Amino acid sequence: MKFYLETYGCQMNVSDSELVSSILLSAGWEPASGIDEADLILFNTCSVRKHAEDRVLGRISNEKHRKQDNPALKIAVLGCMAQRMGKRLLEPGTGVDFVVGVDQYLELPALLNQDRGIEMDFDSQQIYPGLKPLHGDETCAFVTITRGCDNFCTYCIVPQVRGRERSVDFSQILTDVRDCGDKGLKDVTLLGQNVNSYRWGDYNFPRLLRELNKVESIYRLRFITSHPKDLSDELIDAMASCDKVCEHIHLPLQSGNNSVLKAMNRKYTVEDYLLLVKKLRAAIPDISITTDLIAGFPGESESDFEQTLQAMRDIQYDYAFCFKYSEREGTAAQGFPNQVPEEERLARLQKMIDLQREITLRKFSTQIGKTVEVYVESLSKKSDSQVSGKTRDYKIAVLSGSRSDIGTLKTTKVIKATAGTLICA
Ligand code: SAH
Ligand code: SF4
Ligand code: F3S
Repeated sequence: MKFYLETYGCQMNVSDSELVSSILLSAGWEPASGIDEADLILFNTCSVRKHAEDRVLGRISNEKHRKQDNPALKIAVLGCMAQRMGKRLLEPGTGVDFVVGVDQYLELPALLNQDRGIEMDFDSQQIYPGLKPLHGDETCAFVTITRGCDNFCTYCIVPQVRGRERSVDFSQILTDVRDCGDKGLKDVTLLGQNVNSYRWGDYNFPRLLRELNKVESIYRLRFITSHPKDLSDELIDAMASCDKVCEHIHLPLQSGNNSVLKAMNRKYTVEDYLLLVKKLRAAIPDISITTDLIAGFPGESESDFEQTLQAMRDIQYDYAFCFKYSEREGTAAQGFPNQVPEEERLARLQKMIDLQREITLRKFSTQIGKTVEVYVESLSKKSDSQVSGKTRDYKIAVLSGSRSDIGTLKTTKVIKATAGTLICA
C-alpha cells in the first residue's frame, strides 16, 4: 500500500510530515512516487490564515474525484486545520475519510485499518519521544525542540491548534542532530514557535546551542522562531561565540506601533525591539535579520501603519514575510472593534511588500564583491553547470559547480545580486 503526503504551512509541519512518513513506513506503508499511484493521500495542513485553509480545501476538493476510478482510495487530513475543524472535515461530500490531530500521529496506522474516523486530543503532552524522522535526499534538516505555544498573540490560532508549549528532551535533540550530521544533513535548523523559551531541566536555549555546537558532524546550526520578548543577552552571547551558529536571526516584529503591539499581546515595545537589534548587530557584525509583519490588524490606523514602514526603513531587514491580517475563529482579536476593511489591508500589504523589495535589493547588493561561504544544496534549476545553496546569513546563492558539490561548503565571491539571490563566481 502506497501513501502520498502533501505538506502545507510552516517548517513545523515539514518536520511533522517527516515523522508521519517514518510512522507509516514502520507500519508497512511505502511512499508513492506520485499522487496517481497512491492508495492513501494525506494532507498536512495549516490554519494560520484563512487563505492557507482555503488553498488546501481546494486541493482536497480537486483530488476527491480520484475516488470514482479507485474506490479503495482514502484521503486523510492531518495538522493544524485538522485540529481546528475536527469532525466537520468528515461531513458528507468533503471526500475526507480520516482526520488526525497534531499529537495523534502514532495512532495513524491503527486508524487506517478502519473505514473512516478521527483521532484528536486537545491536551496531549506529545513530543514523539525516540521517533526518527524520515529524511529524503535533503541536505538540510529541521529538528523540533519545542512543540505548542503559550504566548497567545491575539491574532494567532497556533496556541489553540498546537496546544501548550513543551520542550523535547535534550538527549533526544542531541541524538537527532548527530544523526543528521552523520547522514549528510549538515545544516540543521532547530524548530519551535518560540525556541527562546526552550527549557529541559537545567538546559535553557543558550545552553542547548552551546552543547549542539560541539556536534562535529554538522557544519551549521540555525533556529526559528525567536520571540523578541525572550531574546536574552545570554542567547546573543551564545550566538556570537558558537562557530556553527549562523549569522542570521528571524525576529518577528509584527508591527512598528506600540499600541498595536500591545493589542497583539506581544509584550515588547518598538524601543525594546530596536535595542535588541542594536545588541545583535554589535555582538554579531553583519548578522542578517529577517522578520514577520502584519498589515491591517484591528484598530491599526494609517499613521500606526506608517510607523511599521518607518521601522522597516530604520531596521533594514534582509527579508520580511509580510501578511495581511486574517481573522481566525476563537482568537481574541476576532472580536476586536475597528476591523480594518479588506481593501485597506491589501493596500497596506502591498506598500510593505514594495518597500521591503527595495530594501532587500539594496541589502543583497551590498554583498557584491564579498567572499561568502555557500553550503551547496542542489543543482541550479536554470543550468547544469551551476549549483545553488545558502550563505551562512541565509541568502540563496547560485555558483558554478556540479552534482558532486552537493552537501559541501564552497567559498566564492558575489558578482551580482537580485532581490532574493546572490549570483556568485
Ligand atoms: N511562532 C512563530 C510563527 C507563527 S506563524 C512566531 O511567533 O513568529 C508565522 C507568522 O504568521 C506570524 O509571525 C505572523 O506574522 C503571521 N500570522 C499569524 N497569525 C496571523 C493572522 N491571523 N493573520 C495574519 N498573519 C498571521
Ligand atoms: Fe502565534 Fe504568537 Fe505563538 Fe508565534 S508566539 S505561534 S505568533 S501565538
Ligand atoms: Fe505552522 Fe500553520 Fe500550524 S504556520 S503551526 S502549520 S497553523
